[in-house]
Amino acid sequence: MINDVSVIGLGKLGGTMAGCLASRGFNVIGVDVSQKAVNSLNAGHAPAQESGLDELIQQNKQRIRATLDHEDAILNTDLSFVIVPTPSDERGAFTIQYAAYAFEAIGKALAKREKYHTVVLTSTVLPGATRYGLLPILEKFSGKQCGKDFGLCYSPEFIALGTVIRDFLNPDFYLVGEFDERSGATLESVNSRVALNQAHSKRMSIENAELAKLSVNSFVTLKISYANMLADLCERIPGGDVDVVSDAIGLDKRIGRRYLTGGFGYGGPCFPRDNVALNFIGNYLGASTPLLEVNDNYNRTISPRFVDKLTPHLRKGATVAVLGLAYKPLSHVIEESAGIYLCLALSNKGFRVIGFDPLAREEANSALKMHALVSDSLPACLQDAECILVTTPDEMFKSLNPEECLLGKESVTIVDFWRCLPEVFHDHPKIQYIPVGRCTGNAGMASIETLRGLWAESTD
Ligand SMILES: NC(=O)c1ccc[n+]([C@@H]2O[C@H](COP(=O)([O-])OP(=O)(O)OC[C@H]3O[C@@H](n4cnc5c(N)ncnc54)[C@H](O)[C@@H]3O)[C@@H](O)[C@H]2O)c1
Repeated sequence: MINDVSVIGLGKLGGTMAGCLASRGFNVIGVDVSQKAVNSLNAGHAPAQESGLDELIQQNKQRIRATLDHEDAILNTDLSFVIVPTPSDERGAFTIQYAAYAFEAIGKALAKREKYHTVVLTSTVLPGATRYGLLPILEKFSGKQCGKDFGLCYSPEFIALGTVIRDFLNPDFYLVGEFDERSGATLESVNSRVALNQAHSKRMSIENAELAKLSVNSFVTLKISYANMLADLCERIPGGDVDVVSDAIGLDKRIGRRYLTGGFGYGGPCFPRDNVALNFIGNYLGASTPLLEVNDNYNRTISPRFVDKLTPHLRKGATVAVLGLAYKPLSHVIEESAGIYLCLALSNKGFRVIGFDPLAREEANSALKMHALVSDSLPACLQDAECILVTTPDEMFKSLNPEECLLGKESVTIVDFWRCLPEVFHDHPKIQYIPVGRCTGNAGMASIETLRGLWAESTD
C-alpha cells in the first residue's frame, strides 16, 4: 500500500493537492522550483492562494514537507503527481517545456531508485503529449523502461478555483489514463483512499484520457454559450426570462441545469484555452471541429457587444462602477475576466471607470494601471457611479441595497448580468434596473411591436 507521495509543482492546483493528500493520511513531499513556495509549505502555510488551504495545511503539517530537490521526492516516495504549468503557445496548443524540465529531473532521480515508482501527469496536455513528448524524456534520463521499472499515468483533475479542496476530495469520477495495467491499478488504489465520496476511477488509455479532459471543459463551455445565446433571445421576446427557460430545460435529464445560467461569457485560466487547444489538435489531425471555433468566437463577442449596447445610454465622461474584476466570485484570478475587459473598453471610450473586487484588488490594480481606479471598498467604488455593472454573482454584491447604490444621487443605472440583486431593485423609482437575459421596460414594448410586425406580415 502506498503511503508516501510527492506533488511536483505547488501552484494553485498542486499546492491544494498536497494539502488534500496529507489530510487523507498520505505523507507528502512537495517539490517546486520556487523557493518561496517551498518555504511557505515548510512553514505550514499555503504555497498558493486557495480558499481554506492555509487552514488545511496547518492541520496536516506533520505529514507535509517541501523541497527544491526532485531527487529527494522521487527517492522517498512511491508515486508522484506532476502539476506544473502548460501555458498556451501562439497556435493555441499547450507547451510542455515546464513538464519536460520536471520529467528530466524525475528521470535522473529514477536512475538512482531501485524500487518501482509511478509518475502521474496531472497538468492539462494535448493528446499524445504524455506518451510521445514526455515518456521518452523519462526513459532517456533514467535509462530505464516504462512498464517494467516505473509506471506512468495521465490523470487530470476536474476542479474549479475557489472550491479546489471540495472538488478534489469529492470528484464525480477519477479520469485515469494508464500506460499499462500496473500503473493504472497503482493510481486507482491511491484514488480510492483520497475520495470522500467513493468516486470511481475510469481507466483507459493515456490518449483517451487526454482527450476526455479537454472534452469535458469544452462541452461545458458549449453549454455556457448556449445559455448566453438564450439570454440574448430572451431579451428580445416579450416577457422573456432566461432563468425561467433554463430552469425548465434543465429539468430534462439529457441537459441538466448546471452551467446553463446565461449572463456573461466564460473566462479564467482553463475554459477559454482548453477550447482553443482542442480546436488546434482537431485541425492538426484533420478532424472537423468547427463547433469549437464558433464557440470561442461567440464567447469573445459577448463583452464587446455589451459595450456597444451600453455606450449610447451613458453620458459623456460618466462614472461607471464595475463590481467584480476576477473571472468569478471567490477568486483572485483575473485571467480572461469580463470585469477587466469592461474596465479597459469603457475607459478607452472616455468613461471614468472605477472597479471593485473583494479578492482580486491587487491583480486588477496591476492590470488596469492608468485605465481604471481599483477601489479599496465597495462604498467608495459606488460613491460617484451613475452606472453600476455587476459582473459576478458575489455574495457581497447580492446583499447590496438601493440606498448603498444611490448615496444621495438622483438616479442610477444598474446592469445585473447574473440577475443576482434583490427584488427591491427591480421597481425602485430612482433606479433603472437592467437584468441581462430578461425582456423588461422599453425593450419589452419594442419587442411586442417587432413580433406583431412578423405575424401581421404573415397574415396579410
Ligand atoms: N488552476 C486550475 O484551475 C487548473 C484546473 C485544471 C487543470 N489545471 C492545470 O494544472 C496545471 C498547473 O496549473 P496551476 O494553476 O496549478 O499552475 P500554477 O502556475 O499556479 O502552478 C504551477 C507551479 O509549478 C511550479 N513549477 C514549474 N516548473 C516546475 C518544475 N520543473 N518542478 C517543480 N515545480 C515546477 C511553479 O513554480 C508553480 O508553483 C496546468 O497544466 C493547468 O492547465 C489547472
